[in-house]
Amino acid sequence: MAERLGTLEDLPQDYRDAMTAAGVAPLWPMMRNVLPHGVPRPQTRPGYWNYDALRPLLLRAGELTPVEKAERRVLVLSDPGRGPGAMQATASIYLGLQLLLPGETAPAHVHTPSAVRIMVEGEGAFTVVDGEKLPMEEGDLVLTPGGEWHDHGHDGDAPVVWLDALDLPVFVYLEGSYAREGPLQAQRNRPDASQVEYLSSGLAPSRSRSRARRYPMMRYPWGRTEAALRGMAAQGGDGIAELDYINPETGEDVLPTMGFTAMMLGAGQVDEPPLRSCSSAFHVVKGRGVTTIDGARFKWGPKDTFSAPVFADIRHEAGEEAFLVRVHDRPLQDRLGYYEERAK
Ligand SMILES: [Fe+2]
Repeated sequence: MAERLGTLEDLPQDYRDAMTAAGVAPLWPMMRNVLPHGVPRPQTRPGYWNYDALRPLLLRAGELTPVEKAERRVLVLSDPGRGPGAMQATASIYLGLQLLLPGETAPAHVHTPSAVRIMVEGEGAFTVVDGEKLPMEEGDLVLTPGGEWHDHGHDGDAPVVWLDALDLPVFVYLEGSYAREGPLQAQRNRPDASQVEYLSSGLAPSRSRSRARRYPMMRYPWGRTEAALRGMAAQGGDGIAELDYINPETGEDVLPTMGFTAMMLGAGQVDEPPLRSCSSAFHVVKGRGVTTIDGARFKWGPKDTFSAPVFADIRHEAGEEAFLVRVHDRPLQDRLGYYEERAK
């Protein structure tokens, strides 16, 4: 394999002009850019967002812009590698902090990208998906999959904030991102499926009596997640306790493109995952610690968020007992057939 490929400057000007006029370009000068050897060269850089710094900005957005003028009142977490204004945290993952004030509603719409909400602060908010009212308590994971109507409301008396994670960049890249608006949905008068059909792990409505929906459970209450992590951690074993969020009917990832895990690190515990081909973001539900990502060192506390490019060298160390939710795009890479892990 040639060390160095031909460049544009190697070609005579008249030939370059003729190519431009014909609407073509030579591949070989760009070959190493689009097909680098060994590992990709991500544009994404490690990112860190301190919640205490963002919270006043969010609340100010609440004063400056009524929800009717925003539809969704969100501050987007911009990838440092793409710079200010970037509508994404990694190549495939969009992250935004959304504020809803008491009594406000975010109107119903449906769109091609999928979203997940991780509840950050406040009580009384809910999301309605396909008529099902999903309460949002701190740490809860709530799905609004692509193609499902959803709106948000708030019955509490203090501001609520949640973290949105979407596969929006993928849909923008595909020129497939669009939405439709509609009236607020009628809510079914019953608790959500996490409190009815899927109350117990390992049990699902009998197949002979029901046909499961594509997204049978759209709310994952934090209380249960934390209890499950504590149960695993109490028995020790290698490494930290980490659980995948799964579709309770199929055992597969909750969404086609994005996956989520819940992680628990004991005080002083270190986690050094293998180099993964997926990009990721971490949201701190509780606890404090330090994470190093490709040499960048982030000291984090409750409700902070940080992100990692593909194949990042990641090391977490908890200063106290800590719980994180990890967002990643491994499901998309699995579908495309190239997800891999490499030993450090
Ligand atoms: Fe939406």
